[in-house]
Order: sequence, then structure tokens, then C-alpha cells
Amino acid sequence: MPTSNTEQQTQGRVADPCVMVIFGATGDLTKRKLFPALYNLAKSNLLSREFAIVCTSRTDMTTEAFRDLISQDIKTYATSAVEPDIWEWFLQRTYYAGGDVTNPECYQKLKDLLAQVNQSHGTHANYFYYLATAPNFFGEIIRQLGAVGLMTEENGQWRRVIIEKPFGHDLESARALNAEIKQVINERQIYRIDHYLGKETVQNLLVFRFGNGIFDPVWNRRYVDHVEITAAETVGVEKRGGYYETSGALRDMVPNHLFQLVSLTAMEPPISFDANAVRDEQAKVLHAISPIPPEEVLTRAVRGQYGPGDDDDEHMLGYRQETGVNPNSTTETFVALKLMIDNWRWAGVPFYLRTGKRLPKRVTEIAIQFKSAPLMLFRDTPVERLRTNRLVIHIQPDEGISLRFGAKIPGPIMRLGAVEMDFNYVDYFGSVPSTGYERLLYDCMVGDATLFQRADMVEAGWRVIEPVLDVWKALPPRSFPNYAAGTWGPKEAEELLARDGREWRPID
Ligand code: BG6
Repeated sequence: MPTSNTEQQTQGRVADPCVMVIFGATGDLTKRKLFPALYNLAKSNLLSREFAIVCTSRTDMTTEAFRDLISQDIKTYATSAVEPDIWEWFLQRTYYAGGDVTNPECYQKLKDLLAQVNQSHGTHANYFYYLATAPNFFGEIIRQLGAVGLMTEENGQWRRVIIEKPFGHDLESARALNAEIKQVINERQIYRIDHYLGKETVQNLLVFRFGNGIFDPVWNRRYVDHVEITAAETVGVEKRGGYYETSGALRDMVPNHLFQLVSLTAMEPPISFDANAVRDEQAKVLHAISPIPPEEVLTRAVRGQYGPGDDDDEHMLGYRQETGVNPNSTTETFVALKLMIDNWRWAGVPFYLRTGKRLPKRVTEIAIQFKSAPLMLFRDTPVERLRTNRLVIHIQPDEGISLRFGAKIPGPIMRLGAVEMDFNYVDYFGSVPSTGYERLLYDCMVGDATLFQRADMVEAGWRVIEPVLDVWKALPPRSFPNYAAGTWGPKEAEELLARDGREWRPID
């Protein structure tokens, strides 16, 4: 196995003493991601000894009952074996208070509980609130926390809030939510989470691009022909039909997750790794994406909805047959877009994006397709065309980076083959059990907002997709369902690239 330089890394500092308050704590996110992530942080000695968790949700339950519940859940969702000592330490500092977040009494009760917890665990009255509720409560919770003084930072104490997606459902609602929240707290207290930024390979994009000298010179319109970003899922909407009907693939994946990938791929080098320096550059890219003119929406934005399909061992329902979905639904479960970034580095280089549910393979990747070399050297040989160089950043499930280049196939005749040079994360660094939330929770506890979305970034993302949302709303799709579950989306997605003389990189 190749050697790595992990030993050169320095161990991070222990997070600040604090209380994490989870709203909507009986939901899936808490058991699947938040507790397993906190457990991993404790195991890595990154949590302060002076740490506590207060959970709240509408369900009425005692702290003891809640502790029993999470002790069952952790057995299923922990990413590595649970060590009883660490888990016991956790339980002793986990509290539960049921309440209705629209009722001011809930906040008074929370305030009293926090005062007690703070006293028992010496948490320096630093609090961060994780809003894992339905999005229509975000503004209200922050307002009510503010009203009872739980957002006030004084005597060196900090107060922060992590907000889950979706952040608004269009530009106007995102602006309104930002304005509402900012009446209570400052931008630096707000941590808008995008779990894509918790993925190692996404974070590695910054290191790959700016920690190496050889890539930047070719990372521009002179050398890059186009960029393809794919986020494909094999699952359908599962139990989330109700939510998905209000969102659809475009809102669910594009202005947030896919635009994070676009901005990290396309941004200029930041002047430092300071949170605002990095986010300034990401925001500039988002502002430089030219919104698709309404008359081009139907050709540059493809929508699809899966119908029933079969694979080797499963019959898959069509989207309209899923629980919680309108049998005549016009909600899209697939989207493909052609975007142009109107700046010096990327002028004329299309960025093709696609994402969808019930596709044949779970894969998220960024493929940078380089321009081809001139063919003239091979004019007198049987070589008819040169394959282009291609760099693929594999985000999941097999994290790594691969580079394709041409090589001579051994033998007396000049023949060219395409070969791949592969870097695989696991080979070099082993597998590190992770939920993807560890780094994000830790960063919030140390006050580093680099990997969180700023208000202007969220709004810029909505601005880009707004014309598509508008045109799609005005012209409902007539051909849904237009792809069978288990296939690569509607044929229009192929045509989107074919019109430009290109094709999606085959993913097998
Ligand atoms: C979520 C979307 O934000 O991201 C889901 O709401 C989607 O619909 C999920 O399945 C994809 O995340 P990941 O990490 O599995 O690629």
C-alpha cells in the first residue's frame, strides 16, 4: 500500500465548551446523522469535556425515555462500534424537553433547562441551535429564541444557529427568510448547512486545486472543453413523497448541492482560507452564472419524471405511484441543465449538470473534459481520432480522482488506447468512519463558517434557477413520466449535449 502523509497532520483543537440544542430532535436526521456524528467527534477527542445536548420536539417524553430511545438508535446508525464508556458519557449530558415551537412557553422552559444544564456541565453558556424542523418554523424559532434572550451574545458567550435546507423555495422566500432572521441575529451567527460540504472529496477540491501547482494553469477556457457534474441516485423518493411534491429535483438538489460543486470547481483562488475569503470567491462564481433566458429554458433545462421500471431483482414503482404523491403529479425527479459562467476564466465553457432519482447507479462526480490535442502528428497512421484528456473527481461512493490520457497500445502498428490513472481515497488513507456531519458540527463549535452558505450565496443560487422555475410552472410538462426507473433519465438529457456535439461520460 502506498504511504501517506497523514502523520504530518496536526490534531485539531478541542471544540469550545457549549450546549447543542436540537429542534425537531425526534426526526430521522438526529438518529441517523447527528448523534452518530457527535459520537465520532467524542471518540476523536474533539468535543469539549464541558459539552451537553438539549433535544426538543413536539413529542412529550422524559429525558430518561429519550436517552433509552437514542441508545437503541445508535446501535443501528453508529458508523463504528459503540464504546460503552463514551456512550455513557454522552447519555449523562443529553436532556430532552418536549414542546410546541409556536408556543412562547416552550422557549421559557428551554431557557430554564439551559440554565440548569449550563450550571451542571460548565458549558460557559455558549449555545448553538440546530434547526432540524420543517422549514416553515425556521423564522419563528429564531424570533422566539431572540424574544427570551437566548440569542443574545454577552460576556464573551456565543450563540449560533445551524439551519437545514431548504432555505426558502425561491428567490423571494429566501430573501424574506434572510431578512426575518437578520432582525434577530447577525450573519456571522448563522450557519446554513449544506451536507455536501461535509463530504471529504468536496473539501478536497480546494486542496486539489490550490494545494498543487500543476492544475491551475490548465483550469480554464483555453484547455477545458466542458465540465459535467452528475449527482445520480438509485433510490426513489422513499417516504418523502409529501416533501418532494413541494420541491422537485431542481429545488432539492441544484441551487444547494450542485451549485456548491460548481462554485468550488470554478472559483478563483481565495486570498486565504478565512471563511469570508473563500465564500467571496464562491459567491462571485454564482453571480457570474448567467440565468437562462426564458426563451431558452425549454432547450437548456431538461426535466424528467420516472415511471415504473424493473431491474434484476426489483420492480420499481413509478413516481406517481409512490406514497404521498399526487397520481397526476407534474413534479420532476430528474433535471439536466446547461449553464454558462460569464467570467474571464470560463467564458464559452459549458457546465452540464444532471441529477435524478431512480437512475441506474448511485454516483456523484465532476468530470473536467479537456480539449483534444491536434491530430496532425498521427495523420499518416491508422489513428482516426484522439480521445480527450479527462479528469474525474469522484465524490461518492468511491471517493477519488482519476485522469484519462492516451497511451500507445504495444505492437508494431500505431494504435492508441485510453488509460486511467486512479487515486482512490481508501487506498491511501484507509476508510475513516464518518457520517459527513462531523466536520460541520465541529466547525460550528469552533466558529468557522467556511463550509456554510452565506445569505448572498443562497440568494445567488435561487436567482440562477428562478427563470427555470417560472417557465416550468407556466408550461407544465406533457410527457411525464418520461423515463423508466433504472435508466439514465429522459432522452432530452442526451440531446442537450448532442446538440453541442458532446455526450455524457458513460458511467457504468
Ligand atoms: C438531500 C436531498 O439534500 O440530498 C435528497 O433532499 C437527496 O433528496 C440527498 O437524496 C442526497 O444526498 P447524498 O449525500 O446521498 O448525495
